[in-house]
Amino acid sequence: MRYISVIGVGYVGLVTGTCFADMGNDVTCIDINEEKIAKLQAGQIPIYEPGLEEMVRRNIEAGRLHFTTSYAEGLKNAEFVFIAVGTPSGVDGEADLKYVRAAAESIAEVMDHPMIIINNSTVPVGTGDWVADIIRKARKNNVEFWVVSNPEFLREGSAVNDFLHPDRVVLGSLHPEAANQVAQLYLPLRAPIMITDLRTAEMIKYASNAYLANRISFINEIANICEALGADVKEVAAGMGYDKRIGRDFLDAGVGYGGSCFPKDVKALAHMAAIHGCHPQLLRAVMEINQDQRRLLVRKVRDLLGGLHEKVIGVLGLSFKPNTDDIREAPAIEIIRLMQSEGAIVRAYDPVAMENARKELGDGVVFCRNPYELAEGCDALVLVTEWNEFRHLDLARIARSMRRPVFVDGRNMYEPAEMQRLGFIYRGVGRGYGPNSINNPSSCG
Ligand code: NAD
Ligand code: UGA
Repeated sequence: MRYISVIGVGYVGLVTGTCFADMGNDVTCIDINEEKIAKLQAGQIPIYEPGLEEMVRRNIEAGRLHFTTSYAEGLKNAEFVFIAVGTPSGVDGEADLKYVRAAAESIAEVMDHPMIIINNSTVPVGTGDWVADIIRKARKNNVEFWVVSNPEFLREGSAVNDFLHPDRVVLGSLHPEAANQVAQLYLPLRAPIMITDLRTAEMIKYASNAYLANRISFINEIANICEALGADVKEVAAGMGYDKRIGRDFLDAGVGYGGSCFPKDVKALAHMAAIHGCHPQLLRAVMEINQDQRRLLVRKVRDLLGGLHEKVIGVLGLSFKPNTDDIREAPAIEIIRLMQSEGAIVRAYDPVAMENARKELGDGVVFCRNPYELAEGCDALVLVTEWNEFRHLDLARIARSMRRPVFVDGRNMYEPAEMQRLGFIYRGVGRGYGPNSINNPSSCG
């Protein structure tokens, strides 16, 4: 059993702290948000993350997981201190490190025994050195400490499973002994552990996210070419994916990537590159293509309806991906705003993200109780998030209840031929003349 503190109880910090507690450690999570901490102390989690609430409760009951707003209390016994605060985009696309700075200063203020400080947040290359500098200057009595970079690779919606079954654990430090000690915490996971220097570890995180974003923009570009040339991107991705060098993951064409990470991390990497004299042209193209995908979806709806003014549009799915309530940089939010700016009347439904979306979008959107209520009287339905519960909808009932049975599927969740059979005027993303396509001359007869 080791004593671990985690600073920041967001999607990463809460999962990290809870999983380490579940592995038998004594974990104290610190956050400046009093409301979040009060909720957690009562065993309720402030976010939607499958499997997490039960794990939090179990570990609180076992006396291994504690929550506090006090750094002094939270760091009292700490041997390992994970910093997992947010690193949002700044005005020029750079990562804004104000929360990391505040966390480092607060650590230094109360640090009264040696500890290993681990950067879990996604931070620009060089931040580990910067954090060490802040603490070195602000600490009292020259207390010893070591900084390790430990980028996190979990995904929202499957965060607990991702944490417990990582493809790899990356640790970077100028002090290999400190990195080795952190490695011991991860040994029970039986994952490959890579130890490298601080800056390389920080770069591995950005390069990984940028590469995944790059695959998404690549397949979206291919999808748009498929549409123009009459091929089916779903089958193209399947055909590419059989090649072991390529693989099938992260080749789903759609409305582009959203969320609190890919958009900000690609931007931050491009910013880092540019200020150091590099020319990040691929990263810029990745971002541009991603932006276009949202506009292209709106264009499809506009073209099918002959304009959006006073048209009633139902939006299925608001979170940036299924199984989360997170709407940060969610494509749905931008798509709704674009359609509203052209005079559309927007209704929406999401299984868990409506409360967050309401805060963001206000009363301008009518939030519905289920997809059937949503569809009633709509001129078009637009699917933006591929929640599982949309897979087995009574689509015939939905088509009948709409004013016009127009369906624009931003995630290629349905099969074009089947949707046509059900009476929809259906458009997916990049689905040209594939064997199942409505546009296939042979299938249309
Ligand atoms: P989040 O916004 O959900 O949570 C951050 C938490 O930090 C908040 O609860 C906030 O109140 C708290 N906080 C801010 N300043 C603080 C301070 N000075 N002291 C204590 N607490 C403070 O963020 P997140 O989504 O968990 O992301 C955290 C970091 O992890 C980011 O750098 C992100 O890029 C990275 N990351 C996120 C994910 C993900 O799926 N969300 C995955 C991998 C890496
Ligand atoms: C992503 C990475 O997958 C994690 O490894 C990383 O830790 C995390 O960012 C982070 O740094 O925060 P996450 O944003 O939770 O995780 O979700 P993903 O499943 O990666 O999806 C991101 C976005 O890409 C979503 O909007 C999703 O709809 C979109 N996407 C994903 C596609 O459009 N096509 C795909 O094939 C895959």
